[in-house]
Amino acid sequence: MSMMTVAAARTMAAVAACMSSTTHAATKMPFWPQYPTRTLAILNGEWDFGYLDNVPDAINFDIKNAVFNESMSVPAAFDVAQPGVMGPRGTAFYRRQFDLSPNHKGLLYFAACSFYCRVFVDGQALGDHRAGGYQAFWMHVPASTNHTRELVVLVDNRFNATTAPTHTGGDFYHYSGITRDVILHEVPAETFILQVETFTLSLHGDIKVRVVLGGDTSVSAVNLNLTFDGTSTKAFSQVPVTNGVAVLANVSVPNAKLWSPASPHLHTLTVAINNRADAVQVRFGVRLVTVGSDARVHINGERIKLLGFNRHTMWPDTGSALTLDQVQRDVAILVDVGANYVRGAHYPQDQRFLDLCDEHGIMVWEETLGPGVTVKDLTSPYWMRYQLQAVNEMISASINHPSVIFHAFYNEGPSDNPAACPGYNASASAIRARVGSPPSRLVTWASDTRTNDVCLHIADVVSFNDYPAWYNHPGDIKYPKIFWQTQVDWVKKHFPGPHGGGDGVMCVYEV
Ligand SMILES: *[C@@H]1O[C@H](CO)[C@@H](O)[C@H](O)[C@H]1NC(C)=O
Ligand SMILES: *[C@@H]1O[C@H](CO)[C@@H](O)[C@H](O)[C@H]1NC(C)=O
Ligand SMILES: *[C@@H]1O[C@H](CO)[C@@H](O)[C@H](O)[C@H]1NC(C)=O
Ligand SMILES: *[C@@H]1O[C@H](CO)[C@@H](O)[C@H](O)[C@H]1NC(C)=O
Ligand SMILES: *[C@@H]1O[C@H](CO)[C@@H](O)[C@H](O)[C@H]1NC(C)=O
Ligand SMILES: *[C@@H]1O[C@H](CO)[C@@H](O)[C@H](O)[C@H]1NC(C)=O
Repeated sequence: MSMMTVAAARTMAAVAACMSSTTHAATKMPFWPQYPTRTLAILNGEWDFGYLDNVPDAINFDIKNAVFNESMSVPAAFDVAQPGVMGPRGTAFYRRQFDLSPNHKGLLYFAACSFYCRVFVDGQALGDHRAGGYQAFWMHVPASTNHTRELVVLVDNRFNATTAPTHTGGDFYHYSGITRDVILHEVPAETFILQVETFTLSLHGDIKVRVVLGGDTSVSAVNLNLTFDGTSTKAFSQVPVTNGVAVLANVSVPNAKLWSPASPHLHTLTVAINNRADAVQVRFGVRLVTVGSDARVHINGERIKLLGFNRHTMWPDTGSALTLDQVQRDVAILVDVGANYVRGAHYPQDQRFLDLCDEHGIMVWEETLGPGVTVKDLTSPYWMRYQLQAVNEMISASINHPSVIFHAFYNEGPSDNPAACPGYNASASAIRARVGSPPSRLVTWASDTRTNDVCLHIADVVSFNDYPAWYNHPGDIKYPKIFWQTQVDWVKKHFPGPHGGGDGVMCVYEV
């Protein structure tokens, strides 16, 4: 019975793949950042596929026993089914070949693989991923004398606290498989650039730049060339490297223009090392997000009203593996109705969506996976280890998007229990450790314990979830105004802001 569902999903996914014509090798990434000097291969297309519903232990499964008697599109959710029909939950196997220059190392980028994924090249396990199926991770491919290599990915989509701790459940369907792009990068033999991060310091266009190195990171200093907007290049010699990271504490962006929802101006920055042996080009915005002295959210020092929607990455025909056209259609709806804001519920976002939000000036709340988080989870070192990995992977992928103004976690979590607060603080601290100073994002969470929430001192922004006139007082359209006024009054009293004038509470409806 399960297999029929998989076959049906495959047909739909194949149609989706044709529509978006994703099967090609290219040197351009389908989203930012770009890697102008690297040989890249987008490994989307039809892969060999198989499925078993009785594997007792996915972590120790001997990959020699994998089955490959079907085929499957990548990216696609292999468990897409008609509304109301549950897809299969078990272990799937994906296989394809790729080319990598002999004796060169590679990096495999998985934009998302859901839930548990274990990656093998030429039969050797490169590693596994347990931190959730909606975020990007990298695997390092060792060099070989062979040109053609074999990639196998084991994907287990069962709810299991060991293999997929952050998949805690909730009221939406968790789709499965290799649901976003897989991209191979050939990297230079010595030192290369893993990541370039930008942080706005001031509205005059001063930024901090963090360059995270990969490969040989034992170097004590690097020479860096920074090119802004493809034209003006600045050379920085002998930038000290500490723990594999080179930091330019204060760089001025030439002809800087601010990013704002009304005028979403974007700049590009290319960072090159070793006479362009490697280069990474990021797109970013110069903008500040702060809590003003009026205790309200400000963009570039101006108070802003957020008006928008809660959005799932979920379509009936493609599940969570949207075509570019579907992503564009969702953004077009936001633009069309005049929204300036969207909550990406309940997991890290597709980079193509965030690129479009950057371009259209739509502010984004991005959060880690997790309705259904319990105090038991938040006090478990094993669970927290993968939660903090999820936080860090979300930030690594999204750090340069000016559209992302909030990072959040634990949708409707147990924040009325003091025992939960250390787990809230750990995620908040992990975010704050990454987002610079002044922080490029604010910390919040959707609290449905609201006035009973005892962890709110940890948040930058108070966000309340409720459903007046829907779950409470159904149909009573006068009720939301009355209800929200009581909540606002409570927040005003308890979180008045630095000057006591606070009147802000973010109302988060999930409709
Ligand atoms: C969860 O996965 C682990 C690792 O594969 C396995 O040992 C364990 O039996 C699984 N738990 C359940 C309840 O299936
Ligand atoms: C593929 O192989 C598995 C394991 O032998 C089997 O259960 C399944 O029915 C096969 N599927 C197809 C489409 O032949
Ligand atoms: C090279 O490829 C051949 C054919 O697939 C395989 O038998 C051999 O083990 C590979 N060598 C290495 C070093 O992976
Ligand atoms: C960055 O440098 C500019 C001058 O180029 C200076 O005005 C500004 O205060 C510096 N910012 C920081 C945070 O050091
Ligand atoms: C920076 O650019 C100059 C001019 O193209 C070049 O000579 C130099 O090697 C580059 N430096 C780095 C670190 O790439
Ligand atoms: C939160 O965690 C940080 C970092 O560990 C710590 O410095 C801070 O005191 C904690 N705050 C609270 C309220 O527990």
